[in-house]
Amino acid sequence: MSIFKNWTDEHTQKFDKGIFTVDHTIESSGLFTDEALIELLDKHPHNMLDVCTMGEHEIYQNQFRTGDFRDCDSATLLQAVKDGRLWLNVRRAMNLHPEYNALLKEMYGALAEKTGQTEFNANGGILISSPVAKVPYHADKTHVLLWHIRGTKKIYVYPTTQEFMSDESYERILTNTLIDDLPYKNEFDASATVLTLTGGEMAAWQLNQPHKVINETFCVSVTTEYSTRKSGFKNAAMFAQSLQRQKFGGNPTWDTTAMPSKVIKSIFGKAIKKAGLYTPTTNVDYVTFKVDKNVPGYIADIEPVARDF
Ligand SMILES: [Fe+2]
Repeated sequence: MSIFKNWTDEHTQKFDKGIFTVDHTIESSGLFTDEALIELLDKHPHNMLDVCTMGEHEIYQNQFRTGDFRDCDSATLLQAVKDGRLWLNVRRAMNLHPEYNALLKEMYGALAEKTGQTEFNANGGILISSPVAKVPYHADKTHVLLWHIRGTKKIYVYPTTQEFMSDESYERILTNTLIDDLPYKNEFDASATVLTLTGGEMAAWQLNQPHKVINETFCVSVTTEYSTRKSGFKNAAMFAQSLQRQKFGGNPTWDTTAMPSKVIKSIFGKAIKKAGLYTPTTNVDYVTFKVDKNVPGYIADIEPVARDF
């Protein structure tokens, strides 16, 4: 099976340097039909599945909330996504199950062939999300590709300047394992590149480029992420920069740092991490609802408890 339908030299040039979409054929694997997804949810480990909701709520206004799905069968879970506000992240599904992993290898084999880059060590998850699901303005720490498969969603991708994401905000993402959203203003949208995906497209942008996603229908997508020497180098250095800011004050910036200093920051950052001198902040993941098929909207609030499944 050929993974890409219309890859051109322009795509090769833009890879990791710009925003683009390209058509892919991964739906024809048959691994993303309702039946296949139900089978996948049945066998996927509980601790690798996130069931979330977000939206209007008295207490949890516009916050991502984690749910307990263990009493719910997979077919109902999928139906709840279609009917309601749920969002499923089947983490590392593309790595953990042999048939999905075979496809992931084909996808990255095709990318390596097209781009000449072979350094990939990709993780892949499957996102199954409802018509009203949104992913707020954020940036990812590693190289991310979105392989959209079913439904319609809009992705807004924003410029990489300090105005859209300051170094300080990015450092905060690096040093806190559960935070990845960024300060956002409505007027940012005027500068965004908007991609409307209707299924069968892969969307790509630059490393750390801020983006948000708005679903228009029920959607199924694969997101893959990989680290490179480039992202590892930058993240280690920004880690050091964060410490520099916190301990010594000042306002260091990445863009204006000369290469030799970037190298020193990066080595310093790796050393700090290795020595365990800097512990990233980890927030406890609280479960605040249960997926209950007898409740309209399938969401039953519970007393918050720390997630242990
Ligand atoms: Fe993202």
